[in-house]
Amino acid sequence: MKLTLFVASFGAAFLARKANAAFDYTSLVNLFIGTQGSVPGTSYNGGNVFPGAARPFGAVKVGIDTTVFNLTIDANAGYTPNGNVTAITMLHESGTGGAPKYGVIPQMPLTTLEGVNLLDNLTYMQPRTVNDTASVGYYKTSLANGIVAEMTASMHAGLMQYTYPSDSDGKYLLADLSHYLPTQDEAVAEQFYSNGHLETSDDGSMYGGYGTWRGGWNEAPDYTVYFCASFDTAPTSAQLFSGPFTDPYWPNGTIPGPNPHPIPTFVNGTSITGGTTGYQYADRIGALFEFPSNATTVRSKVGVSWISYDKACSFANEISDFDMNATIYATKAAWNDQVLSKIQIADTSNATRVEMFYSALYRAHLLPSDRTGENPYWQSDEPYYDDFYTLWDTFRCLNSFYLLVEPEVEEGIVRTLIDIWRHERFMPDGRSSNYNGRVQGGSNADNVLADAYIKNLTGGINWTDGYAAMKTDALITPPNNFDPEDQTGSTKEGRGALPDWLAYGFVTPNFSRSVSRTVEYSLNDFSLYQVALGEAQTPVEAAVFLDRSAGWQRIWNRNISSLNFTGFLAPTYANGSVAPGYDPLSCGSCEWSAVSYEALPGWEYSWTVPFDMVSLIDFMGGAATFEARLDTMFIPGLKTGAVGSGGSNGIGTTLFNPGNEPGFSTPFLYNYLGGRQWKSVQRSKEVVDQYYSTDPSGLPGNSDAGAIDSWLMWNLLGLYPVVTQPVYLLLRPWFSDVTLSVGGNGTLRITAEGLDEGVGSYFVQSVRVNGLEWNKGWVSHEDLVGTVDGRATLEFVLGTEQTAWDTGEVPPSPGHVVL
Ligand SMILES: *[C@@H]1O[C@H](CO)[C@@H](O)[C@H](O)[C@H]1NC(C)=O
Ligand SMILES: *[C@@H]1O[C@H](CO)[C@@H](O)[C@H](O)[C@H]1NC(C)=O
Ligand SMILES: *[C@@H]1O[C@H](CO)[C@@H](O)[C@H](O)[C@H]1NC(C)=O
Ligand SMILES: *[C@@H]1O[C@H](CO)[C@@H](O)[C@H](O)[C@H]1NC(C)=O
Ligand SMILES: *[C@@H]1O[C@H](CO)[C@@H](O)[C@H](O)[C@H]1NC(C)=O
Ligand SMILES: *[C@@H]1O[C@H](CO)[C@@H](O)[C@H](O)[C@H]1NC(C)=O
Ligand SMILES: *[C@@H]1O[C@H](CO)[C@@H](O)[C@H](O)[C@H]1NC(C)=O
Ligand SMILES: *[C@@H]1O[C@H](CO)[C@@H](O)[C@H](O)[C@H]1NC(C)=O
Ligand SMILES: *[C@@H]1O[C@H](CO)[C@@H](O)[C@H](O)[C@H]1NC(C)=O
Ligand SMILES: *[C@@H]1O[C@H](CO)[C@@H](O)[C@H](O)[C@H]1NC(C)=O
Ligand SMILES: *[C@@H]1O[C@H](CO)[C@@H](O)[C@H](O)[C@H]1NC(C)=O
Ligand SMILES: *[C@@H]1O[C@H](CO)[C@@H](O)[C@H](O)[C@H]1NC(C)=O
Repeated sequence: MKLTLFVASFGAAFLARKANAAFDYTSLVNLFIGTQGSVPGTSYNGGNVFPGAARPFGAVKVGIDTTVFNLTIDANAGYTPNGNVTAITMLHESGTGGAPKYGVIPQMPLTTLEGVNLLDNLTYMQPRTVNDTASVGYYKTSLANGIVAEMTASMHAGLMQYTYPSDSDGKYLLADLSHYLPTQDEAVAEQFYSNGHLETSDDGSMYGGYGTWRGGWNEAPDYTVYFCASFDTAPTSAQLFSGPFTDPYWPNGTIPGPNPHPIPTFVNGTSITGGTTGYQYADRIGALFEFPSNATTVRSKVGVSWISYDKACSFANEISDFDMNATIYATKAAWNDQVLSKIQIADTSNATRVEMFYSALYRAHLLPSDRTGENPYWQSDEPYYDDFYTLWDTFRCLNSFYLLVEPEVEEGIVRTLIDIWRHERFMPDGRSSNYNGRVQGGSNADNVLADAYIKNLTGGINWTDGYAAMKTDALITPPNNFDPEDQTGSTKEGRGALPDWLAYGFVTPNFSRSVSRTVEYSLNDFSLYQVALGEAQTPVEAAVFLDRSAGWQRIWNRNISSLNFTGFLAPTYANGSVAPGYDPLSCGSCEWSAVSYEALPGWEYSWTVPFDMVSLIDFMGGAATFEARLDTMFIPGLKTGAVGSGGSNGIGTTLFNPGNEPGFSTPFLYNYLGGRQWKSVQRSKEVVDQYYSTDPSGLPGNSDAGAIDSWLMWNLLGLYPVVTQPVYLLLRPWFSDVTLSVGGNGTLRITAEGLDEGVGSYFVQSVRVNGLEWNKGWVSHEDLVGTVDGRATLEFVLGTEQTAWDTGEVPPSPGHVVL
């Protein structure tokens, strides 16, 4: 890395202070990218990114929760740009859609009790007076009541500092244990408070207990979280209160009678429980603390555990002496050491682009949550991650990113998935609060495992069990959980439409999402094939899965036309007939009960069979028609209908949807044609330029646990992984010099001579891979991590000409099957 350039551009002040320390990459991260949607001031259609304080894969994520009174908007990560603050809470997700999860273990600082009902956030919520500020490990919000709340986080604890106005009526802190993030747009996945317990020390300077909640997008049953909180200033009073149970549906979030809102009752003593242990409809409980009038700042640290109160207290000790600065500093150091320094961009000539990159790198490390040692259901020596939200989103290119840059992270994830199978019989697709759910398409843990297997990830992974876990997905139908949004088969785990898949080799419309599940099951079975080649007892087994991977061909209808192209995936009954009224351009409701999930069935899902591009090109009518059809994906104005909640920030009108995962690889498929790589480069440039920026609304869709952020990073690096194969398509770098850690102890340096966007000089003229002249539009994993000295190089020469340099072998189709 050319450190001097960094100093000049960004880090001068920092480095002047700390002359010998490593560079502080956290100064390049903008935490608000992806927090706002297409309507300024709201999160509507936005990235739902969590802007609060957290460690990499932090078990706690400390941030504000806000109100949103709009039936189409939820505060998925707690924060919305324009809502009022109702609490600061310890657990959040990042980038998710659908109904929110968590927003639990709250504190809310107040200056008065005048007009306040402690059980009604509408009576104490606070607008913010200036825009919040955030940097890695630090968040600050200024409330209308004059209180400034600052927060930071260690791995399992949060630290808050409340600065009260000197002239305030009182200095209060409310902990309403029944707080959680509600939903307004997906009622069946609403969260609920179930029960809780809270007690204070005699002097009130400590409080702790547990809360139990249920629901959220993954439709989880009760989960319990323990907490242990303390103050640096002893309160003058600590009062406990309780109030009647309120259910958002009973009726409309209020209780019947003259007082539509529950009224709290103060109780004496230092301990309170919501109801008989385990009872779901327990009383709401909470605590109200008052601090001395001469106190200006009050600090509080809160440890959180899924195991016990004692463990929560030991986690609180991760923060010593209520020291904000030291905690912020340690959290920044963790991000620098573990994540941000893994990629060193020597070309800092475009600061915007550098900020886009490091901010994306940051967002790609918020989920899953590392809860190793915090699994309440079984003990094992395996790592334990939770909050897979979801593999449907991340398998396409985020898990492959970890595999290349931080293989030890991906090893932990794969071991977690296998250990979940050991104890719960199925690997998850989505999982949160230690509960599998939900499955939007295929059993995509299969793809995650195959990608790791084919790239020789070993470490502590037991591949015998890994293959057995994948076979469970492929062979055993999970019991139907009768999801209110799709009762045709399980949405909890595994493959709900497996009975059709086994009977016909494709999914019929007797199961919902029949088109998208057929293509996803096809890739899943190609994944089985990849692992079976090494792990199956007999070669026959591998051959069976290879044949099954051609399921998508079985619903390819050669007679259906759309926009002048013929031959599309179609919802097909067992007798071969197509569902009446089918339009390849429409997914109807596009969600759980639709013909395809959040993407156009014929147009978008057709491009998602990377293992057999030879057949796909053939089915579409050969290379020229394939190319024309691919071009059509990018013509503005062709989109005639919405694609459910997969919408692209409300701004895209092309059939290609930049905001949702099914289309992630589409712009790069020109590489399969030979001589057309320049078109992939052009698409990459158009999409990144049009949809990504450093603005709060600078993402085209939900971040989805870092999925979309990894997509952006691959583009900027000039590579795109072909998941389940040890293959990367070549694009072109957006920096002239960048070095990545790869494979654990190697490096990959990517250089671009002649890069000059201003004059249109970004097309590949030639490329050298590890010093060798190259004429293929792809490289293998081994090319990047397998060099003798561990130092791989990709040397691009860029220019203005749309050069057909990629005349060599096209990327492989290792799952090519002729039926
Ligand atoms: C705040 O109160 C409203 C109205 O009672 C309720 O719908 C919501 O769930 C509460 N909590 C939050 C975090 O908005
Ligand atoms: C909700 O917000 C969206 C985006 O701002 C807006 O289009 C819609 O009209 C709002 N709906 C209501 C009921 O306010
Ligand atoms: C926020 O609070 C202000 C002042 O109390 C109120 O006017 C506004 O409607 C509230 N907005 C939301 C979204 O809660
Ligand atoms: C607050 O943020 C909004 C949205 O990004 C921006 O338009 C506004 O100028 C900011 N206000 C201040 C005082 O910085
Ligand atoms: C709940 O809200 C709905 C829609 O506003 C209304 O039709 C219904 O009467 C309400 N129910 C009660 C019990 O207030
Ligand atoms: C709580 O304590 C107060 C003051 O000591 C007393 O007046 C009140 O009766 C007590 N309430 C209960 C429910 O015990
Ligand atoms: C506030 O007053 C109390 C009681 O007089 C005293 O013990 C304490 O030191 C004071 N605290 C501050 C921050 O001045
Ligand atoms: C913040 O903490 C770091 C690390 O403990 C220390 O080096 C630095 O001097 C502190 N800065 C301030 C302003 O206290
Ligand atoms: C810097 O990068 C951004 C993001 O890619 C781009 O929009 C902008 O045009 C670039 N600036 C220059 C001067 O090239
Ligand atoms: C994996 O290891 C095998 C055996 O050492 C080797 O042949 C193969 O090329 C490796 N694959 C990759 C992608 O590194
Ligand atoms: C993998 O796990 C199986 C049991 O599930 C065990 O029999 C086998 O010894 C393990 N393999 C290794 C290499 O640990
Ligand atoms: C389809 O073909 C017709 C007739 O040649 C042409 O007018 C139309 O623009 C074509 N549509 C598309 C999407 O290319």
